[in-house]
Amino acid sequence: MLGKMRRTHNCCELGRGDAGREVVLMGWVQRRRDHGGVIFVDLRDREGITQVVFNPDLNKEVHEKAHAIRSEFVIGIAGKVERRPDGMTNPNLKTGEIEVFATELKILNPANTPPFLIEDTVDVSENVRLKYRHIDLRRPNIQENLILRHRAAASVRHYLNSIGFIDIETPVLTKSTPEGARDYLVPSRVNPGMFYALPQSPQLFKQLLMISGFDRYYQIVRCFRDEDLRADRQPEFTQIDLEMSFVGEEDVMGVAEGMINTLFKEVLDKNIEIPFERLSYDEAIDRFGLDKPDLRFGLELKDISDIVRTSGFKVFTSVVEKGGIVKVLNAKECFEFSRKEIDDLTEFAAVYKAKGLAWVKVKEDGWQSPIAKFFTDDEKEKLAKRIDMEIGDLVFFVADQPKIANDALGHLRNHLARRLKLIDENEFRFLWVTQFPMMEYDENEKRYQAMHHPFTAPLEEDYDLLEKNPLAVRSRAYDLVLNGSEIGGGSIRIHQKELQEKVFEALGMTPESYGEKFGFLLSALDSGAPPHGGIAFGFDRLVMMLCGESSIRDVIAFPKTQKAACLLTNAPSETSKAQLDELCLRIKTVIT
Ligand code: AMO
Ligand code: AMP
Repeated sequence: MLGKMRRTHNCCELGRGDAGREVVLMGWVQRRRDHGGVIFVDLRDREGITQVVFNPDLNKEVHEKAHAIRSEFVIGIAGKVERRPDGMTNPNLKTGEIEVFATELKILNPANTPPFLIEDTVDVSENVRLKYRHIDLRRPNIQENLILRHRAAASVRHYLNSIGFIDIETPVLTKSTPEGARDYLVPSRVNPGMFYALPQSPQLFKQLLMISGFDRYYQIVRCFRDEDLRADRQPEFTQIDLEMSFVGEEDVMGVAEGMINTLFKEVLDKNIEIPFERLSYDEAIDRFGLDKPDLRFGLELKDISDIVRTSGFKVFTSVVEKGGIVKVLNAKECFEFSRKEIDDLTEFAAVYKAKGLAWVKVKEDGWQSPIAKFFTDDEKEKLAKRIDMEIGDLVFFVADQPKIANDALGHLRNHLARRLKLIDENEFRFLWVTQFPMMEYDENEKRYQAMHHPFTAPLEEDYDLLEKNPLAVRSRAYDLVLNGSEIGGGSIRIHQKELQEKVFEALGMTPESYGEKFGFLLSALDSGAPPHGGIAFGFDRLVMMLCGESSIRDVIAFPKTQKAACLLTNAPSETSKAQLDELCLRIKTVIT
């Protein structure tokens, strides 16, 4: 169909040196401009744009044909490269010094008018973009994101290959592993009434590969989690997953740092300093309220429970008596915030369950605050010293159970930093958070839950606490945090059967239940399991940071919406009765 036409160059290749050359270009029509006789077409492909000229004086017939061209038509042209006259060059375009005078035109395929323009910023809702994702993906910035994603994956593979890691695929139709989210289930036709679970991660398979002797494994792998979605969460997402034998924390962190350092150098030409900073979980919570603190700005939190426990403010004293804490955040130089602004921040803190947000404005003539009257001069002086209060400051207080006080002020800290523009958007601040608690108590389910996953090893010196005080047991888990976002997590694993059983029991499982769920692992641990550990990085999140985007949907070719739908293909969708019958399934009527 193309006849003798064969593409000679892409749309970003030609420059002044090519003047006089006969070329053939193919691509999409970005824009057609009719300048009273002469028609200009911006021809676009993955690489860029080249201006094509249809001049009636050069070829009347071709010029006539060019009238039919519209946006997004796919065309091929043959013609001659000419240098643009002085003053007509376009410095914003790589090919801006030339244009191609067409002597031949083939309309390879017409196109309907696109639902939006193919430009970096478009003025349509994300839902429209996702419905026409194949067109949305033509926009240069999304193409750049996906190309960068490809380069990032290539860099990671190259790095890990070079230090002895082996890429091994693991099953997608598998058994549930507890990563904390709900499973996606797949019915088995040949085993009626039985289901596979899609993997939330390859966790157990990578441990089995260590037991099999593969020593160093990696995979860039899709994981599936049925959880509530956010800007940095998708129901299916990609991990860089790795596992190593005969290692401790330092070895895994060292590989992770080497990989990240190489990645940033190769993809962004940025030097990231390694090793990364480290904080224990306890210190992170104490200073920043969250286990993934953003270290690009200060605004550290302070615990003032000891100072206010005997004060006259009943809200504070009663919280401290009940085992709670009082924490503060000093918003420096913010004493001009209005009542309305403070009320908005109180509402913000309430989202994280804070029951109130007390505040003090530090003025020339002392404290201005609804709670000032409850404190003695001595208490005020001690607080001023602890919180580093200066004239102009606005100090926020939350009194509550530690989890709520830390969570509310930790998020308020991030919120204020964005609002006060304290964040240098060009900075990449990495941080390891280590020694997470093994378990947390799930109030809804009334039982202990693994904070990372149940295969994470406890710190040796805390073994004794497993039965006595499970919440005090620290684990050998580590998270990698970048600019306040968790981009990776891993741990040194349990490699002895007895210890694994003890941990299952501490988590409230009976020998029958862990035998049924994890019997294969326990038996494998008893077959010669080396000490091992690993980590998984959220690849989409990492690429999102590399691209400077704020949603992982912008670095995934075909992402899902908040309701886990694919608007392009209309998945999920109903299925036929015949298919259901074959799977021995019946749908209950769902009223929504
Ligand atoms: P974890 O559950 O911490 O660890 O997951 C590792 C990393 O994956 C990313 N991530 C997600 N990204 C996008 N959408 C999601 N829904 C989503 N959920 C998680 C995060 C996270 O840090 N098997 C263990 C790893 C190990 O122990 O080696 C695991 O999956 O960036
Ligand atoms: P009240 O005595 O309830 O009017 O509260 C006085 C101030 O204390 C208000 O600014 C409330 O927002 C604040 N406040 C109430 N409960 C708490 C709490 N648990 N932590 C911090 N501040 C609180």
